[in-house]
Amino acid sequence: MKFFSANLDSLRKLYRDQIQHLYSVETQITEALPKMIQKASDPELKQALETHLQETKGHVTRLEQIMHEATGKVDSKRSKGMAALIAEGEDVITDATDDSVRDAGIIAAAQKVEHYEMAAYGTVRNFAEILGHADQANLLQQTLQEEKHADAVLTNIADTANTRADKAA
Ligand SMILES: [Fe+2]
Ligand SMILES: [Fe+2]
Repeated sequence: MKFFSANLDSLRKLYRDQIQHLYSVETQITEALPKMIQKASDPELKQALETHLQETKGHVTRLEQIMHEATGKVDSKRSKGMAALIAEGEDVITDATDDSVRDAGIIAAAQKVEHYEMAAYGTVRNFAEILGHADQANLLQQTLQEEKHADAVLTNIADTANTRADKAA
């Protein structure tokens, strides 16, 4: 049960709400990625996740910039969706008893995260355009492109990693 209503009675407030959730999404990913990198075995996968960790830190900075512009302060609203996705990914990493199967599981978890982000950034970029915040829409579009690229890189790695996993035990 919620004790405080967010009172979302305008697109402007919904936009701010969604940005605050995204801030939580990105900070949660920033904490989760180092564990995934550590548990990954394929050097190519490790490198791709490391590159995206650095990009993710930039995503956090862009959201901070947007919130500073809008309200002068940075606010976060915990994303339950991302917490659940990360928890699922951690379960797979723990349960996998073969390195290549674990890699396939890490890719699966990471791609779910990227698709969540792609949906969320596509939405807020559109909100920003409609609300007349062209600069913010541009920043959000840059992040959206990096999420899409990260997903495409993982799809490529999955080609060989999943075949390797298929040969396990
Ligand atoms: Fe991101
Ligand atoms: Fe991402």
